[in-house]
Amino acid sequence: MDDMVDSSIFPPASSVYGTTLREHVLSGMQAAPGATGQFTSLLNHISLAIRIISSRVRSAGLAGMLGYTGKQNIQGEDVLKLDEFANDVLVEALERSGHCGIIGSEELDEVRVPGSAGKYVVLFDPLDGSGNIDTNGCIGTIFAILRRQPGELLPVVDEALRPGREIVCAGYTIYGPSTTFVLSTGHGVDGFTLDPNVGEFFLSHPNIRCPARGNTYSVNEGNYSTWAKGVQDWANAMRTPDPELGSHGLRYSGAFVLDAHRTLLKGGVFAYPADAKNGKGKLRLLYEANPMAYILEQAGGAATDGINRMLDVQPKALHQRTSLVLGSKDDVARFAEFAKRG
Ligand code: F6P
Repeated sequence: MDDMVDSSIFPPASSVYGTTLREHVLSGMQAAPGATGQFTSLLNHISLAIRIISSRVRSAGLAGMLGYTGKQNIQGEDVLKLDEFANDVLVEALERSGHCGIIGSEELDEVRVPGSAGKYVVLFDPLDGSGNIDTNGCIGTIFAILRRQPGELLPVVDEALRPGREIVCAGYTIYGPSTTFVLSTGHGVDGFTLDPNVGEFFLSHPNIRCPARGNTYSVNEGNYSTWAKGVQDWANAMRTPDPELGSHGLRYSGAFVLDAHRTLLKGGVFAYPADAKNGKGKLRLLYEANPMAYILEQAGGAATDGINRMLDVQPKALHQRTSLVLGSKDDVARFAEFAKRG
């Protein structure tokens, strides 16, 4: 395997280039007793898929990849050409890795079992925020990895229906002005930036920490009239300068992955609460809310369904939706205070 280099020497003191994602993952593997290299290989395949998707996203307008396929997914959403492409690339990369035993995707009706006995479950949203595609807005990919539970003979779908606290790795990428890859394997959170000429991700944001409090809130205020009273009261409080907390700016891009990323880096709060139209919330528990909740917690932030810890929710269905509030610990706690009242 070409990964067999001595990770203890990088980056060397005299280095002229930074730590690559592959080196970073490999050094984690070498520190884990009993590691076999399968997880490293799985992540390398995911990284390759992300680079292929990034390349296609950047040329979508020229390559006839904008617009819809004419199909709908199981959730009744119109599937964009790039949604389908990103899904196909990720599925193929996971299958070719040989280490993924169960695949769950926003764009697949049911979980898929590749022909290998891979010991990992990978759940993903191949292209989050895809409503932004046709206007050249930010979009991204979100994923979570769990270990399969050998010997328990669970029905396959139940192996995907596990609470987020069992996640062993989560990550997301943003296809924005640059392609950013944020990753946690349970030892904090690190961010990487793609050098498109080299075709590698390099460590650009080591040890990301979410500030305890921020000065922005991120929510679709257009849904205000359909929220519960407690959520409306929270939004009113955020709009009103507070003698202790100061005033808050509103930031909302319509791409969860970007709104969560900004909240992770700068602090503040992101919320997509339940409303009259989305009675159980809009975001998907397994491949949107949970991976991001895991990353926020790893960075010292918090994530809830409004009141309860997100990672403790027991999933019941692959495409289950949830309310989600995440960000700075104090700001997430403030939301819960209002939500409990009403
Ligand atoms: O989950 C899909 C998604 O596009 C998220 O990325 C985003 O946060 C949300 O929907 C936007 O929904 P709305 O347009 O209702 O604010």
